[in-house]
Amino acid sequence: MSNTRKRASWSGQLAFVLAAAASAIGLGNLWRFPYLAAQYGGGTFIVIYLCLVVTLGFTLMLSEIAIGRKTQQSQLTAYSQLHRGWGFIGFLGTVVPLLIVPYYCVIGGWVLKYFVTYCQMAFCGATPMGEAAAESGAFFNAFISANFAPFGYGSLFVLASSAVIVMGVKNGIEKSNLVLMPSLLVLAVAISIYVICLPGTGDGLKYYLVPSMDALSVKGADGQMTFSLAQLGKTILGAMGQMFYSLSLAMGIMITYGSYMRKTDSIEKCVRRIEIFDTLIAIIAGLMIIPVVYMFAVKTGTDVKEAMNAGPGLMFITLPKVFATLGAGGPWVGLAFFALVIFAALTSAISLYEACVASFCDLLHIQRKAATFFTGAIILFLSTFSALGYGPWGDVRLFRTETFAGFQFLDFFDFITNSVLMPIIAAATCIFIGWVLKPSAIDDEVMADGNRFKAKTLYRFMVKYFAPVLVILILVQQVCSVLGYTGWSI
Ligand code: PFF
Repeated sequence: MSNTRKRASWSGQLAFVLAAAASAIGLGNLWRFPYLAAQYGGGTFIVIYLCLVVTLGFTLMLSEIAIGRKTQQSQLTAYSQLHRGWGFIGFLGTVVPLLIVPYYCVIGGWVLKYFVTYCQMAFCGATPMGEAAAESGAFFNAFISANFAPFGYGSLFVLASSAVIVMGVKNGIEKSNLVLMPSLLVLAVAISIYVICLPGTGDGLKYYLVPSMDALSVKGADGQMTFSLAQLGKTILGAMGQMFYSLSLAMGIMITYGSYMRKTDSIEKCVRRIEIFDTLIAIIAGLMIIPVVYMFAVKTGTDVKEAMNAGPGLMFITLPKVFATLGAGGPWVGLAFFALVIFAALTSAISLYEACVASFCDLLHIQRKAATFFTGAIILFLSTFSALGYGPWGDVRLFRTETFAGFQFLDFFDFITNSVLMPIIAAATCIFIGWVLKPSAIDDEVMADGNRFKAKTLYRFMVKYFAPVLVILILVQQVCSVLGYTGWSI
């Protein structure tokens, strides 16, 4: 073996679960889950999402962690070590986090800016967003279209992540999670309790938690709602896309983190715990956001679905308006909320960054410091496009055609990773494990700790048949959705 360096490892099972959960809990939980749940009938979406997490999500996460622990490699070299002809999955799996971290850090920079703004509001009584935050839309647009500020804040986010990565697995990632994750949990629980106790949030809570058949129905000519199979399909695909995003699957992270796992720890138990942690925070995020936005929509006569709009608008424009209606407590709720989002986004960015750094260390046999520096330079360079894409380069549209309006830089990086590369990687991984490597190789790794693989039958069926088909469906749906073939769009 040319690489004689001892591989880093987590100090225990809890450290691994915390790190993987910290990666999974991010913007996807705090911002994407609530608006999808609101859009797809609240409880109905939650039930479908839970079913997918414990079947499809379980299969994909367990596969990735087992590959990492079995090969003791990060994704770039893990697949080629298992089978020479399938090394391309590892290559694609390294490109994904390398394209995601730059734009994720730019959004992290937006969150940082809002945190600073709420500090000014809470501590100094300043009103940078205008009285009653009525101009939150103008504030947001002015910030993201500035020449330097988005890049500056994004770079601070990259620097903070680099500082953790350079300190290594135990001293950097593990220790930072020990502080950030409990803080995140406390803030999430405190804000949701505050929101639930506000007078008038009952209807919003019902809207979020009570399963509604409306999400699965369409209005007929007689005005009656009737069950629609197509609508059910759309809800399932929406939940599946969210599950991918939220569990940090197909980005190489779980392979890298699995490669630091001890052979004595139980992969199966860890996966269950990570899923519980991630889903719990997503549901709590819905409790923080949906009831207040619902209350705000009713008060201002806005359509609820419109108020819950997707995209950055919900977090950066609507929520500040909602916080402004909470009186003296508003700036403090805003401050706590954006602190929570920073913690979640930072731990996710760290995991994406680590997946790249570990890949370069394994491939080039270089030290962590050099790999961090090299990766950090690429991230900063690529983040420039997303940071300037709403400002000085705001007119640039990629792949514009007569029928398609084209992508802004940030949207393009998001589309190419989440909608194209990640489903391809996930489908290829299932086909590789199910039909080439054979599931028994994964079974052996799962049972290396000496315990029985309880969900073996489910796993085998999922990885061979169910998962590849579903994942290919997501790929088709997501591409059609973005390109505007509305029959498939969500
Ligand atoms: N799972 C994390 C989240 O929910 O935000 C991390 C992540 C997912 C980052 C998907 C980026 C991404 F495209």
